[in-house]
Amino acid sequence: MSRLDAMRSTLEACRQSHLLQHIDGLSEIDQEVLLKRLESLPLESLPAMIEQLVLAAPVAGDGDLHPAPCVCIKPEQACGSVDLIDAEDLRVRGEAMLEAGRVAAFTVAGGQGTRLGWNGPKGTFPASPVSGKPLFRLFAEQILAAERRWGRTIRWYIMTSESNDSQTRAFFLDNRCFGLDRRQIMMFPQGMMPAFDMKTGKILLERPGVPVMSPDGHGGSFHALLASGAIDHMEGRGIEAISYFQVDNPLSPVLDPIFLGLHADKAHSSGEFTSKMVSKASPDEKVGVFAFINGCLGVVEYTDLSEAEARSTDESGRLRFAAGNIAMHIISTDFARRVATAGQDDLPWHRAVKKVSHIDHRTGEPMMPSEPNAIKLERFVFDAMGIAAKPAILEVDRAEQFAPIKNATGIDSAESSKQMQSDLYGDWLEQAGVQVPRRGDGHIDAAIEISPLTAMSASDLEGVDLPSKIAKGVSFAC
Ligand code: UTP
Repeated sequence: MSRLDAMRSTLEACRQSHLLQHIDGLSEIDQEVLLKRLESLPLESLPAMIEQLVLAAPVAGDGDLHPAPCVCIKPEQACGSVDLIDAEDLRVRGEAMLEAGRVAAFTVAGGQGTRLGWNGPKGTFPASPVSGKPLFRLFAEQILAAERRWGRTIRWYIMTSESNDSQTRAFFLDNRCFGLDRRQIMMFPQGMMPAFDMKTGKILLERPGVPVMSPDGHGGSFHALLASGAIDHMEGRGIEAISYFQVDNPLSPVLDPIFLGLHADKAHSSGEFTSKMVSKASPDEKVGVFAFINGCLGVVEYTDLSEAEARSTDESGRLRFAAGNIAMHIISTDFARRVATAGQDDLPWHRAVKKVSHIDHRTGEPMMPSEPNAIKLERFVFDAMGIAAKPAILEVDRAEQFAPIKNATGIDSAESSKQMQSDLYGDWLEQAGVQVPRRGDGHIDAAIEISPLTAMSASDLEGVDLPSKIAKGVSFAC
């Protein structure tokens, strides 16, 4: 049987024959592209996925929830069930891993950034408050600073997607890799999943012979790391720990010795999958929280937390489910390989209801829905916690590490992120003895930016030539 005939009968069994309906009108190259695309889909599990996730919505919020245990290094943090441990001990362990070259940086940058609405990969977005450095440059500067400090070349792995891979590569080349050696950076695209009509379960077509596809979620990183050869590449270079972070948080520490130290601390972690959290700012904050779900550590999306659970407090009045997920993880290379090879069904798929333009596959007519009409499926990286023997969670300060840029305006926008960056760097300057203007609400009343190449923490400012005072409303960068 030819490849095309084999695909025809597989699609018939999945009730997706319409995908080949236009094949005769396609060029030979486009026919091949379509066949390859269809062969990349999880065709065997498709009928069950459609039945369980597209045509029916899984009932959320029926799990037995308990607060997650967290490790904190500052007594005032103490959120929920915590264990206070010595940060210095962790730092020493983490620094030893960095000095031995056992850690790589890993940025997930394959998302579509629809909420931000930026015309280009999110990592190219100008994010810093004074010089408007793009997110990728800010991370590159952290890597350069880390190399200076720990005396090792730090490898940087970046997951892109089909839609932004070439633009991302071009951006790095145009900017001479921001001072890094091109050979220390490895980029690879993640997998894609089709969009399904939510009433019929049929895969939507963008145009004849081209299914509507989108990236398969940050949980696609495990498979992408393996399929691209990145895990082999890491193992060949003695890298044991992957420092995972998202592209949209300019304050994300690319390599955090304390975090790495916790990952390597057998008393607290199995050294497979370690996470960071910040205390939720309010019960209504839209972040997922770490929790035991039916006895297994994981993340509950804010949409799946009931109002009563979101507001419930412990005996000291603190939120019970306060451990907000900020999407920073240390993943061991062994564990990443294990998750990636565990099979298609290991990490669950999550459904998102979306408005997706497409063509009517019978008439070819363009369809621009005014209401949500489609289901997209994604995997989430934090679901791997459920596979790790003993995942650990570290509490960190929001003000130091979390200023995400998700939206065009308002909460978690470039504007709010820039204020948080100025607040942090203003605080560092104050600690260094500089007089810094503050508004009545306590926020810094100036735009302040400190490059990681100048300082990675307040104490690094010792000996740096600084002004004695910053005037209200001015911009200051160093
Ligand atoms: P988000 O969940 O914020 O999604 O991604 P997004 O695609 O960037 O933005 P919206 O929802 O369309 O507005 C969080 C992080 O995970 C990465 C993103 O690039 C970002 O760093 N991500 C997300 C991927 O790498 N791949 C995906 O399939 C989804």
